[in-house]
Formats: sequence, C-alpha cells, structure tokens
Amino acid sequence: MAVKRVLVTGAGGFIGHHLVSHLVRSGHWVRGVDQKQPEYAATDADEFLTLDLRDPANCTAASAGIDEVYHLAADMGGIGYITAERASIARNNTLMNIGMLDAACAAGVSRFLFSSSACVYPHHLQTNADVVPLREDDAWPAQPEEGYGLEKLFCEKMCQYYSSDRGLPTRVVRFHNVYGPLGTYDGGREKAPAAICRKIAGIADGGEIEVWGDGEQTRSFMYVSDCVEGIHRIMQSDYALPLNLGTDEMVTVNELVDLVSAVAGKTVRRHHDRTKPQGVRGRNSDNTRLRDVLGWEPKMTLAEGLRPTYAWIEQQVAAAKAAPASVLMPA
Ligand code: NAD
Ligand code: GDD
Repeated sequence: MAVKRVLVTGAGGFIGHHLVSHLVRSGHWVRGVDQKQPEYAATDADEFLTLDLRDPANCTAASAGIDEVYHLAADMGGIGYITAERASIARNNTLMNIGMLDAACAAGVSRFLFSSSACVYPHHLQTNADVVPLREDDAWPAQPEEGYGLEKLFCEKMCQYYSSDRGLPTRVVRFHNVYGPLGTYDGGREKAPAAICRKIAGIADGGEIEVWGDGEQTRSFMYVSDCVEGIHRIMQSDYALPLNLGTDEMVTVNELVDLVSAVAGKTVRRHHDRTKPQGVRGRNSDNTRLRDVLGWEPKMTLAEGLRPTYAWIEQQVAAAKAAPASVLMPA
C-alpha cells in the first residue's frame, strides 16, 4: 500500500494532536498545520508548519503535495466561549474553511474531511433533558447554535457544493462533545468534562465546586481515542453525507460530576450557578447511521474515559500549584 501524504489542520489542538499520532501509527506521512504548536506534548507529525489559515496563501502552502486533508482547525471552545465570541468565531472559521476548500481543490486532493459539530442541530429539538437522540436528517429545517453552529452548518453545505460542482470528494463528521487527556482544561475554552475534572482536582475532599445550571441538563461525551479512530474510518468510507460521531451514553451534568468525584475519590459539594451559559437542555447522538455505514461506533464508557482524563488534569493542576509564583517587578 502506497504511503499517503496527509494534512491535519488544527494539529496543535486537542483532537488534531491525537489524530496526527493515530495517522502516523497507521503508516501515513503527516503534515500538521496550526497557528500554534501543541501546548502539552510534542507532535508526532513528520512535518509541522505554523500558519494562520485565515490567509488563503497559507491554505495553499498547507495543501501543497497532499493526498488527503483532515480539516480540524477552528476557533472553538465550550459553551461559555462559543456564546461569548460569535462574531470572531463565525468570521475566523468562515475564512479558514473557504480557504481550505479552495486550496484542497487547487491541489487536487483525493479526500477532504470537515470537522462539524452537534451544534448544527436545531435548538427546538433539544429543549428537554430527556431528549430524543439526534439523527443526521434532523439538521434541516435549521435552527443551529448561533455563530459557531450556523457556520458549521454553512460549511457542511459548502462541502456538498464543492463536491457536486467542483469534484472535491468530501466527508463531513458531526462530533458530539469530545474529552480526554491533552484537551483544553482552563482559560475559558474548556468543555464540561475538563472543567469539572479541573475543579475537583483543585479542592480537598468535602470541598465545593461551581456547576453551571441546575446540573440536570444532558449530554453524551466521547473519548478522544474513539474520536480519532472514527474520523479515520469515516475518511476511508464511501459515505459523503454528514455523519454523527459520538456516543449515545446520555448523562446529566450532575451524573458527570458524580463520576469524576468517584474517580477522584472525593466527596464534592456543588454550588449550582444558574446565571452561567448552559446551551441546549438535552443532547444525545443517534448512532444508527454511523453503525450502518461503518459497522462500528465509539466504545469507551464515560466512567472508563474519565480515569485517564482526570489523572492527566490532576497532574496539570498539581504542577501549576507547585510552580513558583512569578515575581512582579515594579515599573
Ligand atoms: P482545539 O481548539 O483544541 O483545536 C483547534 C485548533 O485550531 C487549535 O489548535 C487552534 O490553534 C487552531 N486554529 C484556530 N484558528 C486557527 C487559524 N486561524 N489558523 C490555524 N489554526 C487555527 O479544538 P478541538 O477540540 O481539537 O476541535 C477540533 C475540531 O473539532 C474543530 O473544528 C471543532 O470545531 C470540532 N469539534 C470539536 C468538538 C469537541 O468536543 N472537542 C465538538 C464538536 C466539533
Ligand atoms: N464548560 C463548562 N464548564 N460547562 C459546564 C460547567 C463548567 O464548569 N459546569 C456545568 N457545565 C454545563 C454547561 O452549562 C452545559 O450545559 C454542559 O455542561 C456542557 O457544556 P460544554 O461541554 O461547555 O458545551 P456543550 O456540550 O453545550 O457544547 C459543546 O459541544 C459541542 C459538540 O457537542 C461545545 O464544545 C461545542 O463547541 C461543541 O461543538
């Protein structure tokens, strides 16, 4: 089998970093591109280019000599970030996505995979915690998450148009909340699993953490190794329409807190802050089509996946506490 030359954009980020390692292990030659180096571990990429993909010339440089593109670069974060930065997110992601589609076409790549999101699904189907799992066809008629979700839905359509009008073979994957080691756990872009792990790692047994909302909102969470395996499988498949990639193990945020407390071995008191962003009331993935297409679906349970995730975040929190406080010099 000839070695493929593969591009991963967003290779300095959480999923992109893990995807690079997975693709290198699978025997591909991998170019990683991001505007920053990976924060927590060195990349396994054969080549890593630091480029701002909002500039079309950089998209061209990133795609030169490439067989397959995994386009993961995005301005993104948890619900706190995506509800606070709609203009920047929609602008930055539109520029990157159009630039990468054009560059991939011009380079004549054989496949282009776009990382979409469960945020494309209509708000009115996600108003109950006991939500009906979301099927791919539910995305239309549309009422996506403002900003981030709308832009993802637009780019899904752009993939369809570039495929039909310009012959670019595309794959579209809708991730449901992904967690694991080496993911953003502080700074404002973190999602619930990492935020809850960080908060619990930072308290003593019996301490209190803040939980956004009443904690009865529901989600499904996918471990990152399942995510990268699923991405690779979908890229290799013949299926070009959008596909969910997530688990259908739905839990409340309170149950997520219970699971992290158990892994940490700590009793945790909760302060529910109902003024904080909560997003949709309920969200779960319907994996029927994923199973039909791949004969596979994510397998890691949340209880299992939280063990390595918590261990890694606990280590980061401990290291930050142990680091000497920086000395502020008077001007
Ligand atoms: P991440 O923020 O860790 O990684 C995204 C990377 O894109 C970052 O390293 C960032 O520096 C890079 N980037 C942003 N702007 C850039 C620019 N102008 N030029 C070059 N690089 C730029 O996020 P992630 O969790 O790894 O997400 C990867 C992809 O999956 C994104 O497209 C995201 O929207 C999608 N997604 C993720 C989740 C999730 O739960 N993590 C859920 C749904 C969709
Ligand atoms: N981030 C965060 N931090 N969320 C918390 C916290 C906390 O400390 N405490 C409770 N939550 C609640 C939020 O209020 C929300 O109801 C739920 O946990 C999940 O929050 P997030 O993980 O931040 O985001 P999301 O599931 O609403 O949306 C995420 O997943 C999408 C894909 O499924 C985002 O990361 C999107 O960008 C992503 O596309």
